[in-house]
Amino acid sequence: MPPTDTDMPSARRLVTDAVLGPGFVRATFAGPRRSDGATPWVRVVVRPVDLRGGRVLQFAYFDPTKCTTKNAAGDEAAARLAEVLDLGFSGVHLTTQAEEIDVRTTKKGKVIVGRRRAGPRPVATAHDHVKDLPLPEGKADRLLEALGVLDRNGRVRPAMRAKFTQVNEFLQHLRHLLPEAGLTDLGRPVELLDCGCGSSHLTLAAHHYLNTVLGVPARVIGVDVNDELVRKSAERADELGGGVNFACGPIAAADVKPDVVLALHACDTATDDALAAAVKAEARLVLSVPCCHHALNDSIRPAGPAEVLRPVLRHGILRQRTADLVTDAFRALALRIAGYKTDVVEFVSPEHTARNLMIRAVRGVPAGEPAFVAEYDGLKRFWGVTPYIEQALGEEFRSFTAEDAEHAERNKAD
Ligand SMILES: C[S@@+](CC[C@H](N)C(=O)[O-])C[C@H]1O[C@@H](n2cnc3c(N)ncnc32)[C@H](O)[C@@H]1O
Repeated sequence: MPPTDTDMPSARRLVTDAVLGPGFVRATFAGPRRSDGATPWVRVVVRPVDLRGGRVLQFAYFDPTKCTTKNAAGDEAAARLAEVLDLGFSGVHLTTQAEEIDVRTTKKGKVIVGRRRAGPRPVATAHDHVKDLPLPEGKADRLLEALGVLDRNGRVRPAMRAKFTQVNEFLQHLRHLLPEAGLTDLGRPVELLDCGCGSSHLTLAAHHYLNTVLGVPARVIGVDVNDELVRKSAERADELGGGVNFACGPIAAADVKPDVVLALHACDTATDDALAAAVKAEARLVLSVPCCHHALNDSIRPAGPAEVLRPVLRHGILRQRTADLVTDAFRALALRIAGYKTDVVEFVSPEHTARNLMIRAVRGVPAGEPAFVAEYDGLKRFWGVTPYIEQALGEEFRSFTAEDAEHAERNKAD
């Protein structure tokens, strides 16, 4: 359709209807400004985003050096959009599911609108960066359909958005760390254990992603104490063509020797059991997103050197968060002592889940390094606790710690 002239109020209405209406994909406001008011923004991009509470509009405001984002819904979104329109950018590019629309305002204030039909396209609404997702949206995928994550048109079911994001993020970390862990060319299938696999979304997705998408032969086992979930998972795996095995029972009792250990929201100390299973099997790669932390919450006390933290530990939520952080710090440190290069990173945006720390560990640094052992012992002394990870890792790990060494010395002297 050839461009047409219009007036400013009509153009404003056109943009507003497109952005606030159904089928909106993206809007970019840029170009020299045709209004006088001062603003630091050189470009504003608006797009829909699905959060746990429902769909919102995300406004990304770009100044010359950085970008600030704000989410808004309903009247607040309409008000933000009106503010952006008031900035008077000379170019507005709109994408909806049906059309590409350009609105250009000349120096003389003439408004020209160009419109062309676009083929149907999915609305990319994931809050996290979605470029190059291992298992993308918008494409029919038998596995994700069978798992109930995607509908027949390749769209993520709203109730499964969080799981879709978590699984994709997990697979991205896995892909990123495979080469460093020496797992891309083992000369045999990679053995992968998913601890506390639950309904096995991650288990089946990891099997599919490694074998079919990345072409890395892999054998996958999911372990869980819940026999009903294990039974259903095994049935589903068979329907999908097999190749994934399941074991019912506690992680600590799993008789396996994995190269990769995954644990997504394995409850409380099940995360420690997963880390310990990895260390004992000398797994090359561990990716763990811990879940609820209860063990330390009950035992940390504002006593001794930690007395100064009494105001923090007095309040339930602060106490719980402190215990969470301390627990994960102990875990990361214990893995480092056990010979793993370890880091802790944000897993997905907190808007998807508050349980969003990932412990990533690649085997291959010297075990028992004194500096880390000293940090570990110092942390134990400060908090007056023995973390469960130490018990899970067992005697071999305890032999590294100073307290154990002192104990051994005392025994020798006796
Ligand atoms: C919150 S669910 C997470 C399930 C799955 N990983 C996911 O993210 O969808 C935690 C799972 O861990 C399992 N679990 C808890 N403690 C366990 C243990 N010690 N050994 C094996 N499984 C355990 C539970 O039965 C449950 O299915």
